[in-house]
Amino acid sequence: MSQNDIKIRNINTDFESVLDGLTEAERQNYFMDKLRSIISEKSEVLGRPYTFFVQTFGCQMNASDSEKVIGILEKVGMKEAPDESADLVIFNTCTVRENANTRLYGHLGSLKKRKKSGEIDCIAICGCMMQQEDIVEHIRKSYKFVDLMFGTFNFHKLAELLYRKYTGEEKQIVEILAAPEKTVERLPKKRKYPFKAGVNIMYGCNNFCTYCIVPYVRGRERSRTPEEILEEIEDLTKDGVIEIMLLGQNVNSYGINFMGESEKIKKNPEYGFPELLEDVCKIDGIKRVRFMTSHPKDLSDRLIEVMRDNPKICHQMHLPVQAGSTELLKRMNRHYTKEHYLGLVDKIKAAIPDISLSTDIMIGFPGETEEDIQDTMDVIRYAEYDQVFTFIYSRRTGTPAASMEQLPEELVNERFQRVLDLVHEVTAKSSARFLGQDAEVLVEELNDHQEGMVTGRMGNNILVHFPGDTSLIGSIQKVKLVEAKGFYYIGELI
Ligand code: 5AD
Ligand code: SF4
Repeated sequence: MSQNDIKIRNINTDFESVLDGLTEAERQNYFMDKLRSIISEKSEVLGRPYTFFVQTFGCQMNASDSEKVIGILEKVGMKEAPDESADLVIFNTCTVRENANTRLYGHLGSLKKRKKSGEIDCIAICGCMMQQEDIVEHIRKSYKFVDLMFGTFNFHKLAELLYRKYTGEEKQIVEILAAPEKTVERLPKKRKYPFKAGVNIMYGCNNFCTYCIVPYVRGRERSRTPEEILEEIEDLTKDGVIEIMLLGQNVNSYGINFMGESEKIKKNPEYGFPELLEDVCKIDGIKRVRFMTSHPKDLSDRLIEVMRDNPKICHQMHLPVQAGSTELLKRMNRHYTKEHYLGLVDKIKAAIPDISLSTDIMIGFPGETEEDIQDTMDVIRYAEYDQVFTFIYSRRTGTPAASMEQLPEELVNERFQRVLDLVHEVTAKSSARFLGQDAEVLVEELNDHQEGMVTGRMGNNILVHFPGDTSLIGSIQKVKLVEAKGFYYIGELI
């Protein structure tokens, strides 16, 4: 137990007995109730609603965690502000590359004055950066005005932590936990769009790619039971959701380390990601199913068949290759070869000809040679991706690659630019291939830039803008693709 815990127990003895024997979810509901009265008092004093702003860095996982944060904050009566001029500012951090860290420090620096003057009531930092001791120490020392820090394993405890902050005398609360046996689910979650939702099917990563910090900050792989996932999706359909994105660091290895009992697993110990996808497709209200991210080493023929045979599964796959060279892939600990990857591309395209492929590419991994870059460029040309996310390798302390000899920056920048030029060429050509075709588009929102236009996504995730109004939002419309604009199309309602 930390000093902080002792302190709070002394201050808040009134609820100790009430909490005895409660499940973690019940305990958090208790704190949400308590917090609601505090927020209502604060709002009364302010003469306006107490506001919050959540700044999210990083990947889909973080976006999903932020939905949980926002869900809890709205549940306790706070109102979302459009920017950092809020009473409570929360940074949900990413640490996959160094520039994500730098951005956080930039934001913190810019808020210091407003925090000191009392304009901002509370600053909290959570997420991946917080799972690294040295970073937490640095913030503790250099950013003393930060009120609360918590990690990737205790988002569900936000109400309790804020309660502690608002009622106690602790200047800075830090609560970083190790990976739990079981995650706490079914707490409030705020979706950006009412008609689509991300659902975590697993947490963590076991792959330990030699450049990557994720396994260290998100823990080992843990899968939710199919029953729990399916029940959550059923509930989402009752709430108007028609599109589901199944989320995991490596969805293809879903099934490792289940967190709970499952009849389905007992009946079929082989139950894995393809089976889960089939079960999700059986849910009536669901019209579209997507997933990310797939690891090439675990992508099975069975998954490709299930995608081919289930019309609800979107023809989209994000399949990070990282590099084209077998030698480099080996040193990255990726467990596949260039040939294997290209074979997967062939198989997927043969089964689902209109699939839209996307990938992640890393340039500048230690020891990368000019031949390695040529291999990467081969793969980009061969796979004809619709979207490529290119990253410059970033040295992460504690990963095996951090102690390998690093490449000079100018060389890496030059290679990066060359690869980027090729990416632009390939994606521009590739994403124009649907021109003139009809497409089904799920309309997401009004187009920000052009009045009288709406924006939506085809099944393959490519954006389409077409004339329409708010009445179309949330519906699937048939649209003719009349103009290719690079990464989006202009369409016309049919
Ligand atoms: N440096 C640069 N990019 C990285 N990624 C992961 N770790 C690093 C790193 N150390 C990229 C990978 C991964 C994506 C989410 O981030 O390409 O697929
Ligand atoms: Fe990182 Fe590799 Fe795991 Fe992806 S699969 S999160 S790149 S360790």
